[in-house]
Amino acid sequence: MRIAVLASGSGTNLQTLIDQIHRDPTIDIQIAVVISDNPQAYALTRARESDIPTEVILTEDYADRVQFDEAIAEQIERYRCELIVLAGYMKVFQPPFVRRYRYRIMNIHPALLPAFPGAHGVRDALEYGVKVSGVTIHFVDEGVDTGPIIMQAAVPVMPDDDETSLHARIQVHEHRLYPKAVELYAAGKIKIEGQRVRILDDDTTS
Ligand code: GAR
Repeated sequence: MRIAVLASGSGTNLQTLIDQIHRDPTIDIQIAVVISDNPQAYALTRARESDIPTEVILTEDYADRVQFDEAIAEQIERYRCELIVLAGYMKVFQPPFVRRYRYRIMNIHPALLPAFPGAHGVRDALEYGVKVSGVTIHFVDEGVDTGPIIMQAAVPVMPDDDETSLHARIQVHEHRLYPKAVELYAAGKIKIEGQRVRILDDDTTS
């Protein structure tokens, strides 16, 4: 299966997908393209170092966000990708893009949704004072971080945590779970029943 990874930043999740999936000859999943809205994203360097094609698509080059999303869709089609994996991609898709790729866009979020959606999930959870936060992998729908949840893992918040330390512990779980979720999808083991997701032969949910 050919996948597109979209990333706006450092790309540690992209790196684990490269290392654990793309480079594993026993797994039939290829990262066909890495797309970014940020030309400075280190994720692009990681892709180039692994000889994965990259595309940079800038919002300022398009009249509106629907047309910007269309430019992304053109690349998804050009590289013949079946799944779109958001790995620290920090823009929200407009409804036409979501409808076109319904249940074919996966996102990872550094909090236990539906708590603390949006761009600052780690900071918002800390400021609220929760004792447990975590990671959520979900399908993208028309809302912000509201789509069907595929996997979650809990991460305790320590009394002396700051945003950096908590995010680092959450990322350990992100890197463990995201490749598994992509593999399960490719194997046809993820079934969506309304808002609920069932994973067949599941031994991976924690
Ligand atoms: C990840 O922690 C991901 O959960 C978060 O961005 C980080 C990207 O890290 N995504 C969001 O906050 C989406 N709202 P990475 O660039 O090192 O993979």
